[in-house]
Amino acid sequence: MMSLSAETLDSPVRRSRVVALAHPLVKHHLTHLRNATTPSAEFRMLIQRLSVFLAYEATKDLPIETRQVRTPLAETIGHAICEKIALVPILRAGLGMVDPILNLIPEAQVWHLGIYRDEVTLQPVEYYSKLPPNRPVDTALVLDPMLATGGSVLAALGALQAWGVSTIKVLSIIASRPGVQEVEHRYPEAYLYVAAIDPELNSHKFIVPGLGDAGDRTFNTSGERPI
Ligand code: PRP
Repeated sequence: MMSLSAETLDSPVRRSRVVALAHPLVKHHLTHLRNATTPSAEFRMLIQRLSVFLAYEATKDLPIETRQVRTPLAETIGHAICEKIALVPILRAGLGMVDPILNLIPEAQVWHLGIYRDEVTLQPVEYYSKLPPNRPVDTALVLDPMLATGGSVLAALGALQAWGVSTIKVLSIIASRPGVQEVEHRYPEAYLYVAAIDPELNSHKFIVPGLGDAGDRTFNTSGERPI
């Protein structure tokens, strides 16, 4: 068994604007998430747990302002988040990340983007957008558990940039190395928070080792087994 110090495991690995989480609990839950025998009910719980870690890391630099607060004992100075934040789940699989992050940021707005990857062309197809015409937020957190080729996230980044959001952070549970490189190349101003970066894509452009199809595993619509 390989042993790593807690400090090493708990230090997020920072490469440019890409942050790969290294917390032991993230590694632990991610292993169960990858397991092909994990049933949908548990898979959904694991997505929720991992989403909290991603959101914790992605919100570390949110600006705050001071607020007066009266406790039962005294007046004191507290703090409040002073930016408008949007959660932007990419349907379908991103939906599983919304509730745990909304629990952390109850004031956040939620704007849905429907994008699927065409199985033949492997290109992203946008089929639903609930973004309003005017920019209502300062920071957008794009939620999608999988970043494979990066096509879907790039489509979302294009939509959000056109929408006028100043800060865009992508939260993905697993990303492929080629997908991360593509997003970094095309949108160097975007931030990317992931629980793992896997080395490659197979011939169907699935992340390897990955976890299969996150949408199917979340919503229990898998066939006999994931590709
Ligand atoms: C999956 C996944 C991402 C996308 C990743 O969605 O949830 O949105 O593929 O692939 P890419 O990086 O190559 O674009 P899918 O197309 O299976 O849709 P679904 O969430 O509705 O199942």
